[in-house]
Amino acid sequence: MEWGMANRFAQLIQPDGHALFLPVDHGYFQGPTRKLEEPRKTIEPLLPYADALFITRGVLRASVDPDNSKPVILRVSGGTSMVGKDLANEGITTSLEEAIRLNASAVGISVFVGSDYEKESLLNLAKLVDDGERYGIPVMAITAVGKELEKRDARYLALACRIAAELGARVVKTYWCEDFSKVTGGCPVPVIMAGGPQVDTELEIFEFVHDGMQNGSIGVNLGRNIWQNDFPIAMIKAIRAIVHGNATPKEAQEIYDSEKNSQAKKS
Ligand code: 5RP
Repeated sequence: MEWGMANRFAQLIQPDGHALFLPVDHGYFQGPTRKLEEPRKTIEPLLPYADALFITRGVLRASVDPDNSKPVILRVSGGTSMVGKDLANEGITTSLEEAIRLNASAVGISVFVGSDYEKESLLNLAKLVDDGERYGIPVMAITAVGKELEKRDARYLALACRIAAELGARVVKTYWCEDFSKVTGGCPVPVIMAGGPQVDTELEIFEFVHDGMQNGSIGVNLGRNIWQNDFPIAMIKAIRAIVHGNATPKEAQEIYDSEKNSQAKKS
């Protein structure tokens, strides 16, 4: 690996080989989604606990101070919306020149395997990888499912992750699922887990993050289940303890409960 690529990677993946990325890019197709209406307010308190931010250039410029930031993974695909015809019909929205200007440590792009736009999204990934390799910028591929959340099973996700890796992604972000080792085992590059829409209990998140880490994932890129929680700092600290401290789901729950209680007392 070239020095620049290796150095960018080292900014993202910590010395223990694990990573906690905080995604706040959702507005690029969801608009002012719940609890991310004012991104600065969401991002600032969580920043100390994140290893990197996954973010669009617009929110980065407007809502993150350049002198008090974390490494940036720039979301560079988009062009669709929740109310449009098809979320899968994405293009590349941001040039590599812009990514370099913004001092991004990596760029991220969604691929939509099995959709009507499978070929376009995969060729977008391949083109981005060509450019990224030229400038030493790692590309993170996101195995997106659009509104079809039921696609999140090992067979589909293993297929999508492997294809993304074959096309040159340096990291693949996917969803956790049952039999997650089938996904990580078939993917020759590091796999990071997204969270998906907010679930009912914190323990569900701690359990899947723990299971994913035990089964070959290097970490998370987990957003709504952190910042849509009523106690986001408690949530990110608990998840961090699993990712970087090898905590069990029960220990993570204890961390969450104790942080929640002390924050509740202060307010
Ligand atoms: C949405 C994304 C998010 O970065 C990804 O889905 C992770 O966030 P969450 O945990 O909220 O699903 O790609 O555009």
